[in-house]
Amino acid sequence: MKLYLDTANLKEIQEGANLGLIDGVTTNPSLVAREGRSFKEMLLEICNLIDGPISAEVVETELDAMIKEGRELAKVHDNIVVKIPLIMEGLRATRVLAAEGIRVNVTLCFSPAQALLAAKAGAWCVSPFIGRLDDVSSDGMELIRQILTIYRNYDFPTQVLVASVRTPQQVAEAALAGGHICTMPYSIFQQLVKHPLTDIGLKKFLTDWEKMGQL
Ligand code: E4P
Repeated sequence: MKLYLDTANLKEIQEGANLGLIDGVTTNPSLVAREGRSFKEMLLEICNLIDGPISAEVVETELDAMIKEGRELAKVHDNIVVKIPLIMEGLRATRVLAAEGIRVNVTLCFSPAQALLAAKAGAWCVSPFIGRLDDVSSDGMELIRQILTIYRNYDFPTQVLVASVRTPQQVAEAALAGGHICTMPYSIFQQLVKHPLTDIGLKKFLTDWEKMGQL
């Protein structure tokens, strides 16, 4: 499973890049607004830090404007994946952009039927938001399993990008389910490596070694 960072913060992306374990980045208008910088400049800098797919979301909601904005974003860098919301106009825009060879991440997916439409429209990937479903007492991970089953049933090449991740456990569950990509905040990525028994075990090994008095 590919691991992406869900952030527009360059410091976090740089730290992730230094580890060499990050395959891509997803941004959204809220994350970009938090940084208060020029969107396109920021995208270029992200593309220079991580050599992988970088999702950049359109903010237009009308068909022609969405297509125009998607084309402009795609021109910023070869690694840009255009993010389009899962609304009817968005699916139409996805068809047009996909036919031009532009990779589209269809975002804000909350149901298997929506995911089916995204695949039929030619999306490169679909982003089901599992945390936001859990927030309203639905089962986000079940949605991932359902979408994967539908895509396998019909051999859709669209990848499932597990999004709106809130815990390290969800990352493991996404991998167990067979999700293709999982995007997460940097804080969750940092937690993936941690286990108290690892720290306790290492401390004991080092203490025992020291007691022996050998270099
Ligand atoms: C995905 O691409 C979105 O940017 C993101 O995962 C949304 O997560 P949130 O529900 O924590 O805002």
